[in-house]
Amino acid sequence: MTQQADFLSATRTFYDAIADDYAVRYHDEPARPMDRGVLFAFAELVGVGGHVVDVGCGPGRVTRYLGSLGLAVSGVDLSEGMLGVARRENPGIRFELGSMLELGYGDGTLDGVVSWYSSIHTPTHELPALFAEFHRVLKPGGHLLLAFQVGDEPRHYDRPWGHPVALDFLRRRPEAMAELLVPAGFDVRSRTEREPEASFEEKVPQAYLIAAKSRAAI
Ligand SMILES: C[S@@+](CC[C@H](N)C(=O)[O-])C[C@H]1O[C@@H](n2cnc3c(N)ncnc32)[C@H](O)[C@@H]1O
Repeated sequence: MTQQADFLSATRTFYDAIADDYAVRYHDEPARPMDRGVLFAFAELVGVGGHVVDVGCGPGRVTRYLGSLGLAVSGVDLSEGMLGVARRENPGIRFELGSMLELGYGDGTLDGVVSWYSSIHTPTHELPALFAEFHRVLKPGGHLLLAFQVGDEPRHYDRPWGHPVALDFLRRRPEAMAELLVPAGFDVRSRTEREPEASFEEKVPQAYLIAAKSRAAI
């Protein structure tokens, strides 16, 4: 990565600063039964041995969980700090530095792509490019899983754990995301929305979309 867009630099700076605290706070992820259920369904759709890339993998907990379900997993993230945690905690899994807007995989080579709360820092006008990149790397019939917070207004995090960084966490409507997936060449197969879990300090509902690459982009 040479020249980065501002939002990518901001995201990277934020997660480099908080990587170790984030890894402690979210140590037991995926912790909620509903989340594990969605990941389990995704793994079944992809099929045992399918190659899945966890884009914006952070500390790699979801990557590892999907690996435990029989998938051939690897992870990509912008943040060296997050990748340091992911490699330390998951020595058997390959984690690479990169942007999910420009993945280092060939056309039609992956069985699955997971973006678990990682598209939340991509501006809305960049989502068509993001979904086009996911479409490019997936095999025909390959599956995409998106997780994100539901809402209309971003949540601004300032000085998390006292670190001098700040970042917007974008919330989105599942219908709006699904509408962008269709012209990108996906069939939306499942929309799950669950209530926030107060014990995990969640403030808003959470959404999970599973889509399949069905045809050429419109
Ligand atoms: C909220 S964290 C989620 C991490 C992980 N998926 C999890 O659930 O624990 C968002 C992660 O996405 C990564 N990320 C955001 N935008 C990215 C991009 N364009 N390319 C690669 N990684 C990105 C961040 O660096 C961060 O590690």
